[in-house]
Amino acid sequence: MTDTNRRSSGPLPKQALQQMDPYVPQFGVPASENPIRLSANESGLGPSPKISEVLATEMPNLHHYPEQQDGKLAAAIGERYGVKPEMVLTSNGSDELIYLLCQTYLDSGDEAIYTQYGFLVFPHAIRLTGALPVQAADDGYTVSVDNILAAVSDKTKLVFLANPNNPTGTMISEAEVRRLHAGLPSHVILVLDWAYAEYQEAALSYATQMVEQNDNIVMLRTFSKMHGLAALRLGWGYMNAEMMGLLGAVRGPFSVNGIAALSGRVAVADTEWQQMVLDENTRTMAMLADMCETFGLAYISGVANFMLVHFAADSSDGANGPTAGFVAQSLASQNIMVRGMAPYGLPNSLRISTGTVAQMDALYVGLRHSLGK
Ligand SMILES: Cc1ncc(COP(=O)(O)O)c(C=O)c1O
Repeated sequence: MTDTNRRSSGPLPKQALQQMDPYVPQFGVPASENPIRLSANESGLGPSPKISEVLATEMPNLHHYPEQQDGKLAAAIGERYGVKPEMVLTSNGSDELIYLLCQTYLDSGDEAIYTQYGFLVFPHAIRLTGALPVQAADDGYTVSVDNILAAVSDKTKLVFLANPNNPTGTMISEAEVRRLHAGLPSHVILVLDWAYAEYQEAALSYATQMVEQNDNIVMLRTFSKMHGLAALRLGWGYMNAEMMGLLGAVRGPFSVNGIAALSGRVAVADTEWQQMVLDENTRTMAMLADMCETFGLAYISGVANFMLVHFAADSSDGANGPTAGFVAQSLASQNIMVRGMAPYGLPNSLRISTGTVAQMDALYVGLRHSLGK
């Protein structure tokens, strides 16, 4: 409950907000102002260096409002990913599109489905509208299409699927995604949150065609992960013209700033940088897995740029060994940030993102110390 709930007089926010806790990403407290950040699934390698070469050209334009929808950015996305630019809606991070979809399609009393260990922004955005977030249990650490379909009711308007999923890092197959869509009534929108698609491009490109062939599917993408532009807040959605018109009407007129649009154009065209990031990520994911094996830690083998790692359950005498909370704090004191998973219902796990090879080496030393090995 927030403080507003406890007030007996004075202005109150709308009903849905009175029942709600804010979504606060937990990054922990680092030992310095410049920690090794393995806590937010960012790219440790940063963005294409070509961006800084062109940014100065935008400086004389900073007094102008940006394009409402940057045609050159949509065209660059179209060219890179083989999508139709007129179906691309660029956004202030893909988060913006999650909130917009909820605001646009959910009335109070409606239902929207998200998955058990799914991205927590989904239930937050659903709740804000006064609609009911309905959780579909996972099968172990993987999304269960059967459980999602069983959760559908005549009040369901949206189904959110992150694939690969954050924070588990697992991915369901094309056949499963198609089975999910085939099982949904036509009035339900399937939201394909493809935030980590760049790490599995070949396996996930079918989504484009699914959007083009069905009116009730939307795909969400982001520049925050493999493209390394999280600070600029840039994402895009792939959707039909009607949905684009509705979302565009709901949001403010200028959501993508000029620097972000220009940077996105350069980033998406720099395939050499993208390949380097992917190669490094393959290497650092293997380093993460090796570390877990070496230290005897159970982990879920992720397919994106992070790993879910399990630690000992809490015990009154500490006999089970270092807990996730202890390890996260100990790493933070060594200037390494990882993500606690208690808000996701996984109190004994930490989510660790890949960084550079040097950062993985530092993590190895930090973990060894934290685990007392
Ligand atoms: C599954 C998923 N969807 C969406 C996002 C939001 O990305 P953006 O930075 O584009 O808002 C994230 C970020 O962590 C994510 O993990």
